[in-house]
Amino acid sequence: MSKRFSGRVVLITGAAGGLGRVSAVRFAREGAHLVLTDVNAPGLEQTAERVREAGSTCSTHGLDLASETEIKAFGARICSQQPRLDVLFNNAGVAYGEINGPIESLSQEKWLRYLSINSLAPLFLAQALRPALANAKGVVINQSSMASYVPGVPYGVTKATLNAMTFAMANALGADGIRVNAIAPGIMETPANKEGISAETYARVQGMQMLKLHGTAEDIAALAVFLASDEARFINCEIVSCDAGNRLRGWRG
Ligand SMILES: NC(=O)c1ccc[n+]([C@@H]2O[C@H](COP(=O)([O-])OP(=O)(O)OC[C@H]3O[C@@H](n4cnc5c(N)ncnc54)[C@H](O)[C@@H]3O)[C@@H](O)[C@H]2O)c1
Repeated sequence: MSKRFSGRVVLITGAAGGLGRVSAVRFAREGAHLVLTDVNAPGLEQTAERVREAGSTCSTHGLDLASETEIKAFGARICSQQPRLDVLFNNAGVAYGEINGPIESLSQEKWLRYLSINSLAPLFLAQALRPALANAKGVVINQSSMASYVPGVPYGVTKATLNAMTFAMANALGADGIRVNAIAPGIMETPANKEGISAETYARVQGMQMLKLHGTAEDIAALAVFLASDEARFINCEIVSCDAGNRLRGWRG
């Protein structure tokens, strides 16, 4: 495989498992140095081990994306250590549990927490890392969801907000030559969604695909690498679906 990211630095949030871990390994195979963050320290260490096995280097950082203060301090630290940041992959998110319940049942406190992590943290982190991203004329990728297209539950609302945030971020960061896009995955098998979604719902959502394929974390990792690469240099301010043409587009009502 060609090493398109040799000498480049890629930061991935939510890297302790699932789509974040598989993306980290994929960027590692492409030669990138990884900066990995999550709130799950043991999971982060397992990902770091996989990155090293793939022949690359990385650092790991505990970072709670619900805290603007933590994000700002982290960004300042990274900018002093890595004056150049080529890719910020805002992959972390709360995707399972009560965030998929009825919109009427969530308290204001919970709404604000989920919006903070899923919709606002990508902006705050990009702002905190902006000097290093600007030095590299870097790329930001936000992990949205097909659920953003027809939101029926709080999760979809947070991801629809993230799509809007992606457009606004592209508009603002473009001044520094930074590209900003989002990926909208369909249903992709990860340990978290196998556990968090019933087998019946999984089959129903997958059954709405125009293509009878099984979505994997590798499908998302491949798209992230492409959007981060020089081949995608003219692609900006886009929400790119990767869902085998899912007619349901996330409707869980
Ligand atoms: N797997 C899918 O089918 C699918 C589909 C559409 C979108 N997505 C999105 O992809 C991303 C990854 O999903 P996944 O299936 O790998 O799930 P996952 O739960 O394995 O990954 C999410 C990661 O985010 C981290 N996280 C949660 N809250 C955090 C916080 N406050 N601060 C820092 N990190 C935090 C978790 O610890 C976890 O490692 C999520 O944003 C999810 O919404 C997944």
